[in-house]
Amino acid sequence: MLVDHHTEILITAEQIRQRTRELAQEISGEYEGKDLHLICVLKGGVVFLVDLMRELTVPHSVDFMATSSYGSSTESSGVVRILKDLDEPIAGRNVLIVEDIIDTGHTLDYLTRILRERNPSSLRICTLLDKRERREVDIPVDYVGFDIANKFVYGYGLDLDQLYRNLPFVAVFKPGPYGT
Ligand code: IMP
Ligand code: MG
Repeated sequence: MLVDHHTEILITAEQIRQRTRELAQEISGEYEGKDLHLICVLKGGVVFLVDLMRELTVPHSVDFMATSSYGSSTESSGVVRILKDLDEPIAGRNVLIVEDIIDTGHTLDYLTRILRERNPSSLRICTLLDKRERREVDIPVDYVGFDIANKFVYGYGLDLDQLYRNLPFVAVFKPGPYGT
């Protein structure tokens, strides 16, 4: 079942579509005539990535990276491990990291430090969601879809125990009465 009494829609599919279009217009304007290279952090970022790509009006390439943070799935430990590295070098390219959500900031802090050592021409960050109040490391975020409160969200790429990434909206988990 996709939607049950535990699911509360936080951001609708239409709101995501509209905001993605706005971000894509902004990005397309700023990367006009430049070599834009998108890097998507698996797995959560893929749904946002493909929708963003289809709204971009500038040519761009794409590559993928997978990371995992040690520790539990809902609390970032700040220690990040690369599970899959990029296929291609990024030296001299205009890199835009596409993420689903920035929480404590540890994942992107680590990732941007690694990627900067590879000498891209530029390195920017685009995230669909930003839980700003949870930030533990200050990282500059260039494009933000939505600022959200400190609640665990899922859907539109983000998982709840590896499920529900397919939901077309961003949801918050709402515990039922009597712990159901
Ligand atoms: P950070 O290192 O704390 O910024 O964590 C970023 C990663 O934690 C994201 O890429 C997600 O994979 C995961 N994450 C953080 N908050 C949520 C959430 O509310 N729902 C699902 N995943 C989350
Ligand atoms: Mg992510």
